[in-house]
Amino acid sequence: MYRRGGSVIQADIIVDLQYGDCAKGKVAHHLCKKEQYTHVLRYNGGCNAGHTIYHEGVKFVTHHIPAGIFFGIPSIIGLGCVVDPEKFLLEIEMLERGGIRTAGKIFIARNTHVILPSHKGEDDPEDIIGTTKSGNGPAYRDKYARIGKRAFEVPELSPYVVDLYEMFHSGGDMYVLCEGAQGFGLDIDWGDYPYVTSSHCTSASALLNGIPWKSVRKVWGVAKIYETYVGHKKFEPDDPVFVKIREVGEEFGSTTGRSRQCNWLNMDFLCRAIAVNGVTHVVLSKMDVLREVGRWELYDGGVARVFLTETSMKKYIRERLHISPRKIFFSEHKDSI
Ligand code: IMP
Ligand code: MG
Repeated sequence: MYRRGGSVIQADIIVDLQYGDCAKGKVAHHLCKKEQYTHVLRYNGGCNAGHTIYHEGVKFVTHHIPAGIFFGIPSIIGLGCVVDPEKFLLEIEMLERGGIRTAGKIFIARNTHVILPSHKGEDDPEDIIGTTKSGNGPAYRDKYARIGKRAFEVPELSPYVVDLYEMFHSGGDMYVLCEGAQGFGLDIDWGDYPYVTSSHCTSASALLNGIPWKSVRKVWGVAKIYETYVGHKKFEPDDPVFVKIREVGEEFGSTTGRSRQCNWLNMDFLCRAIAVNGVTHVVLSKMDVLREVGRWELYDGGVARVFLTETSMKKYIRERLHISPRKIFFSEHKDSI
């Protein structure tokens, strides 16, 4: 809890511990329903992200706008993000068409950098990385080259533009959910460079958006019970089980429709992501997918471990994570948590 004058800021952070697509959208949606957040903040990434959310039985895929919008909570695209004005406005239309009221609830930090039409043509021309071709990387490149354009300079975005200092620090009690995009394995510094995205995907990235470190209450780390990765490096071992996992788990990109490569859960990687992100609570999603496929395996210490039952694999994971079992949750693809 961070106190200053008469005001208090508290924040929870959601971070992906693998390569994106671990159900951050689902966890964000669930927490928005359960907690009393005053704001939800997306802290990194652009429209390369795709958050799939089932709200009152209806499927929505958002790219820019955080999950708070489904509950009328002011939802902010933070300055660590890059925003595509055209896609952002289309996303608002899509939400309105789906019956979600957005008026006066969506904000963009004034100095959030903008993805320009020219950026999209420049994305990964040789296609070595396998980017989402959303112009994300070129927009961050121009930001750091100090030639980028910011949201307040784009007339169509001006109704949404806010100053994050004024938003979070002008008094009153704030309880902010910080929702990340992509994941630890795609982080520009911690990921497998150059097979990474162009932003910071760790919990530290939330703080860059004007969230004081002392305000952080919980860090929700989200992972899948197996791993997936989309991009051009070889990730999937040759075993037909991964074809089955892809089918059952519907592992096709929500932004690009590409097949996601699949592999078993890597415990060493997971433990590293938990430590670096300071994770306090873990959600392991898609348990029902392995149940349906009928195999329970993971890698630990570089070797494959095979379990006979779901219970024995869960027990192993619980003991290995060094997090209180009360703070480890297993969720299903089909249900909300
Ligand atoms: P970029 O972020 O479009 O530049 O793509 C760089 C790498 O990150 C590629 O491997 C993409 O497939 C991956 N990537 C970017 N955003 C996401 C996401 O939201 N989920 C999963 N992979 C992503
Ligand atoms: Mg996604």
